Amino acid sequence: MKLWGGRFQKNTDELVEDFHSSIAFDQRLYLYDIKGSIAHARMLGKQEIIKKEEAEQIIAGLEGLLQEIEEGKVEFSKGAEDIHMNIEALLTAKIGEVGKKLHTGRSRNDQVALDTRLFVKDEIKKTQDLVLKLLETLVSTAEKENATVMPGFTHLQIAQPVTLGHHLLTYFEMFKRDFERLEDCYKRVDVMPLGAGALAGTTFPLDRASVAVELGFAQVSENSMDSVSDRDYIIELLSDLSMTMMHLSRFCEEIILWASQAFAFVELDDAYSTGSSIMPQKKNPDVAELIRGKTGRVYGDLMAMLTMMKGLPMAYNKDMQEDKEALFDGLDTVQKCLLTFTPMLATMTFKQEQMHQAAEQGFSNATDLADYLVKKGMSFRDAHNVVGHLVSYCLDCGKALEHLNLEEFIQGCLILDNKEYSEIMAEDVYEALKLKNVVGRRLTYGGTAPTQVREAIKRGKKALEIFKKKLAD
Ligand code: ARG
Repeated sequence: MKLWGGRFQKNTDELVEDFHSSIAFDQRLYLYDIKGSIAHARMLGKQEIIKKEEAEQIIAGLEGLLQEIEEGKVEFSKGAEDIHMNIEALLTAKIGEVGKKLHTGRSRNDQVALDTRLFVKDEIKKTQDLVLKLLETLVSTAEKENATVMPGFTHLQIAQPVTLGHHLLTYFEMFKRDFERLEDCYKRVDVMPLGAGALAGTTFPLDRASVAVELGFAQVSENSMDSVSDRDYIIELLSDLSMTMMHLSRFCEEIILWASQAFAFVELDDAYSTGSSIMPQKKNPDVAELIRGKTGRVYGDLMAMLTMMKGLPMAYNKDMQEDKEALFDGLDTVQKCLLTFTPMLATMTFKQEQMHQAAEQGFSNATDLADYLVKKGMSFRDAHNVVGHLVSYCLDCGKALEHLNLEEFIQGCLILDNKEYSEIMAEDVYEALKLKNVVGRRLTYGGTAPTQVREAIKRGKKALEIFKKKLAD
């Protein structure tokens, strides 16, 4: 008979049995279900809601059951619906009548909320650990490539040269915010819902605070109806995870471009690329493409949760059982992607020569020629105009700016009809146009100059020390 079978005259239809059972996926919560039940039983004993010896028997039974599950000796049953009723039924089968006392003052509604929160707390830490490893790889790669010159793009058109170290630290900032977002989400997950009962609280004198302490929660929930109805924390987590996927996806998109023959900025390690079944020459960036593709899947998990929750009246509704697959899928996907992406990045070779050559294209030093003129007394708008004309001249004769002779530069200035300007071009313009100097001069705080990148790396390392300490606590 079902644990709730008392008021029913008929058995559940087999189709319904299959349809509403969640054990196939929520068995993943067994550890948290047992931990939660142990804390609940201990509190019931302490409060003399059940006898102390009964609580001890229940706790010993649950501990034994946990071991059996971990040894693979337990088979869950679909008939017992979900992980909560499976554990209770297995416990009672194991220790007899006293097992039936475990569910005193508790509902599956607050139980599932507790289990999920315990699970999410652990998974947030695991995910943060993976983000941390990526951040470490970004810092060490940026350190190696702090002075490597590459083209910086806007509109995917060559804009100004940047250092590869600086480009990589862009991602450091993104993933740093992702780490912090997870930390922030954790605070809202760290709330103990047990004691809410089905929705209204319970008639037994529970000590909710002691359960929270035993299970390591920072606080107990404030409102029993909210405790069993709230899935905000899952939506918040999936939103944070979506953001991480978006960042990974942008990075993957760049890696895919960089690995193409047209860019040829990077060579992926053989272990992190794949071939073609027909074209013998192919080496494809499948890992990066798959991460880009899986981003849509995590957005889907978020969208499924938002849509599932949007019309639900208070308090618990069975719709909410649908939260688990989206939650598990989102977490699994992000963790797998991070786990694979980090070593792919760490083993990638950056082709410094090609990157430098690409930065020499597209007049990436044109702004610096304008800045040169401004520093010699021209207004920026006039300088912009002069350099625009010089670029147009270069395009006609197939030259780069640094290939022009001094006379050509002077002619360029004279389009302004201001004789004073014929004096301002000098030999030092060639130094000003060298890419190494172009990046080296961008010394603003947070700029691309190698010296600034080294400062950013120092700050990054400090941030990582703090993150590491936080994760260890
Ligand atoms: N398996 C259910 C879920 O995940 C547990 C709570 C069920 N409660 C209920 N009254 N049907 O949501």
